[in-house]
Amino acid sequence: MSQSNFDLSGRVALINGASRGIGEAIALRLAEAGAHVICTSRKLEGCQAVAEKINDTGGSAHAMVCHAGELSSIEQTMGAIAKKHGKLHILVNNGATNPFYGPVSETPEWAYDKTMEVNVKGPFFLSAKAIPLMRAAGSGSIINIASINAIQPGQLQGVYSVTKAALVSMTKSFAKEYAPENIRCNAVLPGFTDTKMTAVFKQDEKLLDTLLKGNVPMNRMAQPDEMAGAVLYLASDSSSYTTGTEIVIDGGYLL
Ligand SMILES: NC(=O)c1ccc[n+]([C@@H]2O[C@H](COP(=O)([O-])OP(=O)(O)OC[C@H]3O[C@@H](n4cnc5c(N)ncnc54)[C@H](OP(=O)(O)O)[C@@H]3O)[C@@H](O)[C@H]2O)c1
Repeated sequence: MSQSNFDLSGRVALINGASRGIGEAIALRLAEAGAHVICTSRKLEGCQAVAEKINDTGGSAHAMVCHAGELSSIEQTMGAIAKKHGKLHILVNNGATNPFYGPVSETPEWAYDKTMEVNVKGPFFLSAKAIPLMRAAGSGSIINIASINAIQPGQLQGVYSVTKAALVSMTKSFAKEYAPENIRCNAVLPGFTDTKMTAVFKQDEKLLDTLLKGNVPMNRMAQPDEMAGAVLYLASDSSSYTTGTEIVIDGGYLL
């Protein structure tokens, strides 16, 4: 396979949740491969910093606000992309939240609603609103960042796990419906990764050790950048016959 199959020159990529962590690593990797990257999340500042990093190192990026839980914000984002670029080749649904750790039966309604809105409604409508722009591009690749919790629910992470399972199902729905138009949809399922979302576990060395030992055969957390290669593969023509599938990146956790 020629290396140019990973080339994203001339492609426009929207990464929601690009201000830090796994989303930032994906933004940097897709920009390095030649895509123009649109970095979005709720807070402009973090996205601007990532876009600046890309532009300062010879890539091309800009930042915008997009709140995944608000349809009006999603519509504004897509409207702005339509106006500026007229098309979109790649959408990465990476932004997510996990506000409640506790017994599933004690999940407060606010936490249920927020997790559903950001982790399910957000990717659903971002993908739906991206379809016309991908049609205009002549093809498209939607990549949903789910979690190993989609397959094996995380302890005390009931509603979060439910949303990630829904995201895998959503991946298949979009894949099946839009394959005839050459719009593909796949999911990446990260394992335990060293980001702000998991910072609480790192504060307690004993807890971290317990979580890793016997659970993660590679006996360490992933670094955010270790998720980016799979996303580049799914975004690029290297995966041109791949749709509706999941790539698990978990250091062996699910074995
Ligand atoms: N870290 C792990 O161990 C792990 C494991 C499995 C799966 N994942 C998944 O990987 C993805 C990235 O997680 P991460 O670990 O990199 O987390 P993170 O460091 O907390 O980053 C989360 C990103 O999502 C954005 N975000 C949060 N709420 C949003 C909203 N309502 N609308 C738009 N953007 C929003 C945040 O930016 P703002 O705050 O500016 O909005 C930030 O850019 C998530 O889908 C997560 O579920 C992570």
